[in-house]
Amino acid sequence: MKMKVSKAVFPVAGLGTRFLPVTKANPKEMLPIVDKPLIQYAVEEAIAAGITELIFVTSSEKRAIEDHFDRNWELEHRLRETGKFELLELVNSILPKGVNCVYVRQTEQLGLGHAVLCAKPLINNEPFAVLLADDLMEQQTCLQEMITQFQTYHSSIIAVESVPAEKTDQYGIVELCDHDLTKPVQKIIEKPKPNVAPSNLGVVGRYILTPEIFDHLQNVATGVGNEIQLTDAIATLMQQQSVYAHQISGKRFDCGDKLGYLKATVEYGLRHPELKGKFTHFLKELTKEI
Ligand code: G1P
Repeated sequence: MKMKVSKAVFPVAGLGTRFLPVTKANPKEMLPIVDKPLIQYAVEEAIAAGITELIFVTSSEKRAIEDHFDRNWELEHRLRETGKFELLELVNSILPKGVNCVYVRQTEQLGLGHAVLCAKPLINNEPFAVLLADDLMEQQTCLQEMITQFQTYHSSIIAVESVPAEKTDQYGIVELCDHDLTKPVQKIIEKPKPNVAPSNLGVVGRYILTPEIFDHLQNVATGVGNEIQLTDAIATLMQQQSVYAHQISGKRFDCGDKLGYLKATVEYGLRHPELKGKFTHFLKELTKEI
């Protein structure tokens, strides 16, 4: 197996039903956090980690994502003509040179595991990253840290954080050996009810996976929600290879959830170079009223 991680899979075919009606005609991954779509944050994190091939597992409703990462000649021409060179640079730097996008369609919504399996023909025998754009990481170094850990263990790495005990049924949950992150994960289970959850360490949307995961994805039975679950394939992979957990540092915003999305918008607004002064003032005034 090649040891360099140069490919990242972005499963973006989901319907985004939690955000209807805005997601009726717009991909949820294109929802903005201030002025950048969610998917761009995940892509920037991947590029910062040295990823050069971005594989989007997409659907017919998600063309806006392809357009976002493509050239827009008319816009570029207008910006150049009107002397808006900073904006031109902003638009042109979305995808740095040397980074390529590949799109593969997931024609049926059969779950996250199925989405990752759709990328198999593009991966070959190499480790790869999976990023779920819904999970916005405050630390854009998250994937880089996981790749560094992969270089030590040569094993799959899953990002985790402590989640509220009553919410274990919203996450893949892992059980560590002696609570020790340097030892392989003992157990992983998709969305267990709080009373049967082995811990409250929830999987968040970053994975480094060895290519053997595809054998397991191909054979795994449908699981929670009648879907092919990535978690279930990782559980059977663990019988063959070690899998490690990576505790994320910094905050994670669950932007697949309306409240999480609003929290991210406020925090990123407060940090935005152009907005922070005025927005902080606005929020201070507002909190006096509520
Ligand atoms: C998916 C995974 C789950 C993981 C979560 C992280 O669930 O199936 O194991 O904990 O992402 O965001 P989803 O949120 O797509 O239901």
